[in-house]
Amino acid sequence: MKILLGVTGGIAAYKAAELTRELQRRGCDVQVAMTAAAQRFVTPLTFASLSGHQVLASLWQPTVPETVTHDPAPFDIEHISIATQVDAFIIAPATADAIAKLAHGLADDLLTTLALATTAPLFIAPAMNVNMLRHPATQQNLTTLRDRGAHIIEPGTGSLACGMVGEGRLAEPVQIADTVTRALILATEPKRRPHQDLNGETLLITAGGTREPIDPVRFLGNRSSGRMGFALAEAAISRGAEVILVTAATAPSHLKCEVVSVTTAAEMQSAALDALHRVTTVIMAAAVSDYRAVAPAEQKHKKNETGAETFVLELTQNDDILKQIVAARRPGTLVIGFAAETESNPASLRAEGRRKLIAKNLDAIIANDVSSPDSGFEVDRNAGILITHASETVLPSSTKRHMADRILSHIAALRSFNIVSSHK
Ligand code: CTP
Repeated sequence: MKILLGVTGGIAAYKAAELTRELQRRGCDVQVAMTAAAQRFVTPLTFASLSGHQVLASLWQPTVPETVTHDPAPFDIEHISIATQVDAFIIAPATADAIAKLAHGLADDLLTTLALATTAPLFIAPAMNVNMLRHPATQQNLTTLRDRGAHIIEPGTGSLACGMVGEGRLAEPVQIADTVTRALILATEPKRRPHQDLNGETLLITAGGTREPIDPVRFLGNRSSGRMGFALAEAAISRGAEVILVTAATAPSHLKCEVVSVTTAAEMQSAALDALHRVTTVIMAAAVSDYRAVAPAEQKHKKNETGAETFVLELTQNDDILKQIVAARRPGTLVIGFAAETESNPASLRAEGRRKLIAKNLDAIIANDVSSPDSGFEVDRNAGILITHASETVLPSSTKRHMADRILSHIAALRSFNIVSSHK
């Protein structure tokens, strides 16, 4: 793999030398580009010696070291063309200034010009003072880049060069090298092993609508058929995952997975929490009843039992299973919810989905309109919006099976880029 490594001017620039070595250890051919500021921290000669390539240093005198001339070399389009020949462009460390330029598409030096010219995946490893990192301008710029598809390798926490303690340390070179090489391998993986991108993952999927007894023959329920959860289980199995299906609806017999049948929300909660330690991802596609009867009758309720024409049933709230799962999960377990809404207006659907994503502290949520005849309960099709903390993706109307595959592709990407729960 050919990697272009962009080094910008921060104290962590010296760590880019270690990163060059780590990438080489993983079989990568590394070419380095440096900003003028970076060259004040580390000499281009260091990177030229380590990489075995001249360093791309300036638009006007593109490579150093080379014979010093008094006339700047003409603008060298050849060096821009390198941007089109690499498998990935990593910028590490990326200063707040470099991130701002990248977010706005500025190209006033060789490094930012290369970033605009490349079509290769862009990996950005920020390193800066904690206040600069937290500044809304920097956060907004990172969101812009993320939304555009750049992979942000989150900085670590610790003592910073400025003397402060907090977030902003460049991620460790080993972690950066691992993240990039893993992502590149996964990107080529589907070509080699179609649909096996969830190999090694174990998914807990819940399905169906829970039923809360009123008496031995009646229950409180909802219209969920379980089809979305079953489609997710089927798609996950065919992509190589192990699946534990906790279902309140009858599972199709062809599903080759562990099936735990439940009836009530409390049973679903205990089955899900029991399985949690064995899984890497949870998808709560079930429609869980928010309430149950305080005192379900032991005998069938008789119509004229109380003599009154009205019948008052006292209900109490069930626990929120997702909240329990999020609280009990092992670090790194991805938790995805569904938001069943009766709002067809996309803006309200999106807002309600995001509200639940944050309130339940999830990694992603799929907001869908369950009142539409072409999506939601009891139909074979669905549509919605997949919302994460960094992005929103419209899932156009399709069969539930097709939508399941789209959702799983997002999950595979979230896992491969290690962006699980980074907001916590
Ligand atoms: N959920 C849950 N436990 C509950 C209720 C819901 O885990 N007691 C999960 C659902 O499986 C779904 C997500 O929470 O993944 C959102 O469910 P939804 O019914 O849309 O929202 P609620 O949280 O119940 O809120 P409201 O009914 O007020 O819209």
